[in-house]
Amino acid sequence: MKLDKEVLSAGISDSSPVYVYDLAALRFRCKRFAGIMPARKRIFFATMANDHPEVLACIHGCGFGAFVNSPAHLRLAQEAGFPAEQIIYAATNMLPSEMEMCVRKKVNLVLDSIGQVKTLGQVLNGRSLGIGVRLNVGRSTPDLPKIHLDPNYRFGLLPSEIPEAVAIARQAKITIKGAHSYFGTGLMSEEVLVAGLQRLAEAASALPHLEYLDVAGGMGVPGKRGENEFDIDAYGRQAANLLAQAERALDRELTLFIEPGRYTVADCGYYFVKVVDCKVRPDRVFVGTTGSVATFPRPLIYGEQARHPCEIVEAQERPNCSLPIYVCGNSTYSQDFLAQGISLPMPEQGEHLVFHHAGAYCRSMFSNFLGKDRPDEVMLDSRRALRSVAKVS
Ligand SMILES: Cc1ncc(COP(=O)(O)O)c(C=O)c1O
Repeated sequence: MKLDKEVLSAGISDSSPVYVYDLAALRFRCKRFAGIMPARKRIFFATMANDHPEVLACIHGCGFGAFVNSPAHLRLAQEAGFPAEQIIYAATNMLPSEMEMCVRKKVNLVLDSIGQVKTLGQVLNGRSLGIGVRLNVGRSTPDLPKIHLDPNYRFGLLPSEIPEAVAIARQAKITIKGAHSYFGTGLMSEEVLVAGLQRLAEAASALPHLEYLDVAGGMGVPGKRGENEFDIDAYGRQAANLLAQAERALDRELTLFIEPGRYTVADCGYYFVKVVDCKVRPDRVFVGTTGSVATFPRPLIYGEQARHPCEIVEAQERPNCSLPIYVCGNSTYSQDFLAQGISLPMPEQGEHLVFHHAGAYCRSMFSNFLGKDRPDEVMLDSRRALRSVAKVS
């Protein structure tokens, strides 16, 4: 993979490990996303994917809204410049105080159950409000990728509960204007998302005041060099067709809401570590580095699903080692693996490994586990190193 010179010089620093974010690449990604069909859409970046204030400000500058699910992320989004009407707040099991805060702040609220609609009615106590509700119309899982109803799926109202929710809402002066669903994550084909949108549109047609369909996120990025990208244009085209179909069926204009997380920010981020030690075993090589799953947490949380293109910065031309490489962190945790069984040239002590697609679900998932320091985070913009933004919490 060809690495930008500025990214390289920012990543190969004395401080290791280090994250580098390329804000120009992030802007490019946002622009590309904003250009997809349908025309009537609103895009809300899922802040759980990356909560760095400069990343949020950059995304806000691209005209996106923000999707948050906690008071802390709401505060970060507001500080980054997102106005209330550009924020969706959706959580589950919200206490009345959390709902009251959302009402006071005038953000767009999405509720998860009949019980939560009842609670909101009590919180509003006669005031009127428009909200969205999350619907359970199925999801994709790694073992069963086709969208299916999953008894273990804890989110949303069942379609059969919609009439009761509408009746409770009406009594409480709540108007249900939106239907929301999330079908899976790291999806590399548009099929699941399109099938999910179709199911959502069908179920949501029972909502008399429907104005928007919110399909959340789910678009993935390749885990290995050479793999196909998610076809965002094909997704946009098919989503536009489905939306038009739903509009005709309901004789009403609808807006598509999308909440992309990983797809927006993954590829603007890089995680650099230094090689400290190599152990050659008969069937594999353990490469010890300055990294750790505490500071590069996707392998800790997602296991084998966490795949990141990885390369040795100094060994672009060297042939791959005949043995599989296991990249390890510098702890005594037995599962401190940044990558397992990958192909790389044999690394040498002092060289650097770079993990691509490290802009999503990495810094937002840093863990105190193992007591590791937070890595430095370097922001680049317009191909110039701006400054090192160390340890922003
Ligand atoms: C409701 C909702 N929307 C959007 C996202 C972002 O998902 P992704 O990063 O897969 O695009 C998530 C992630 O969990 C989510 O729960």
